[in-house]
Amino acid sequence: MALPYFQINGGNRLKGKIRVGGAKNAALPIMAASLLCDGEIVLRDIPDVADVAFLAELLQKLGVDVERRPDHGMRLIVRDEMNCKAEYEIVRKMRASICVLGPLLAKRQKALVAMPGGCAIGDRPVDIHVRAMRQMGADVELVSGDIVAKAKKLHGAEMFLGGPFGSTVLGTANAMMAAVLAEGVTVIEMAACEPEVVDLADFLNQCGASISGQGTPRIIIEGVKQLKGCEYRIIPDRIQAGTYMVAAAITNGELELENCRLDHLLAFIDRLDAVGVKVERGEQTVLVSSSRRLEPVEVTTQPFPGFPTDLQAQILTLLCLADGNSIVTEKIFPDRFLHVAELSRMGAQLHRAGPTVIVQGVKRLVGAPVMASDLRASAALVLAGLAARGTTIINRIYHIDRGYEQIDEKLRGVGAEIERREGGEE
Ligand code: EPU
Repeated sequence: MALPYFQINGGNRLKGKIRVGGAKNAALPIMAASLLCDGEIVLRDIPDVADVAFLAELLQKLGVDVERRPDHGMRLIVRDEMNCKAEYEIVRKMRASICVLGPLLAKRQKALVAMPGGCAIGDRPVDIHVRAMRQMGADVELVSGDIVAKAKKLHGAEMFLGGPFGSTVLGTANAMMAAVLAEGVTVIEMAACEPEVVDLADFLNQCGASISGQGTPRIIIEGVKQLKGCEYRIIPDRIQAGTYMVAAAITNGELELENCRLDHLLAFIDRLDAVGVKVERGEQTVLVSSSRRLEPVEVTTQPFPGFPTDLQAQILTLLCLADGNSIVTEKIFPDRFLHVAELSRMGAQLHRAGPTVIVQGVKRLVGAPVMASDLRASAALVLAGLAARGTTIINRIYHIDRGYEQIDEKLRGVGAEIERREGGEE
């Protein structure tokens, strides 16, 4: 099969305007929440990315009519509630499929969701999701690789959802979605505070749920009898915005970003500021530019409002060109460093010790054939390619298509030399 790959001729300074799309990681749980609603849902700013298509396919199998509309719209309505099973075929393609667990259990009294395996960014357990369902009264077992959860009626509960790496984003989403139709009040302590969790809570409230405290570590949910449909616009994608900010900085360019929420990116902007990248708020847009000299910094990923793990690979790439040694520590997914070996092929000087990478700044990166391994690592390789001298070939770009809509077209629009070609290697 002819696989697409990117060919990038680096060195161009990027200049111009990019519109940031809707957030994939907000869109996915909100789409899954359609399973809870008795009425039509119309979503706006749904990104046209592969993960959204995977979840749409799963929802269709679960009896939801899903219609993509022009201009990033999507209409969802449940037509048949018989099927309660999320097959391994789809779950293995996309771990976020786990977010149908809570809605199926709450609405259909039963959920069979294939247990997601590990992935390129490390082990990704779902024990906290399961714990939350059990605390609301569900019977949960693992049968032939499927999580099988059953409950005639879930009840509210007080629960602590922290794990060894802090809060869990989709675990909080699952607990919240199960609790909205449970009998009584649920309190989630150590809830994830990510903007995507807030977006899900706001969406559910518009459908008639009663959730408060979203955006703080304590979320309170009063169960209701029924949810209706609504119209809702997804928040802008903060990770996409951050990636384009690094694209401006690493090419010593100047980009104006439309549909960008700076309040969702404060920890990231704090680090960019320390590096010497200027981020200014305009009337409707955000302007990003960088001085020639990049300062080395220390970065540690943390749950929101800390520095996002989903921007670790991108800032690490920028720091490859800083004037001195930087330290990047990954506290959410300690093995999320597959980009390190690929960046080294392009001349980066990186030394990994467990969850920490010492980045020794170099004068330049050089183009090379490299392999994308996961979504954000692939974005990092694109950024490296934009800055490198010569030609970079990136294989396995299906990873990047999972979460960035037409990244090649957007970058070409601001002056990058990047082509999508057929005939890449697996
Ligand atoms: N964890 C557990 N047990 C659980 C769940 C999580 O130990 O039951 C651990 C994880 O292994 C990890 C930490 O808790 O060490 C946090 O993981 P989290 O559950 O928050 O991750 P997630 O909800 O599965 C979402 C995003 C990821 C993003 C993480 C962290 C979606 C669809 N995915 O995953 O996004 O990295 O939160 O912010 O929202 C991406 O977009 O590239 C991506 C991987």
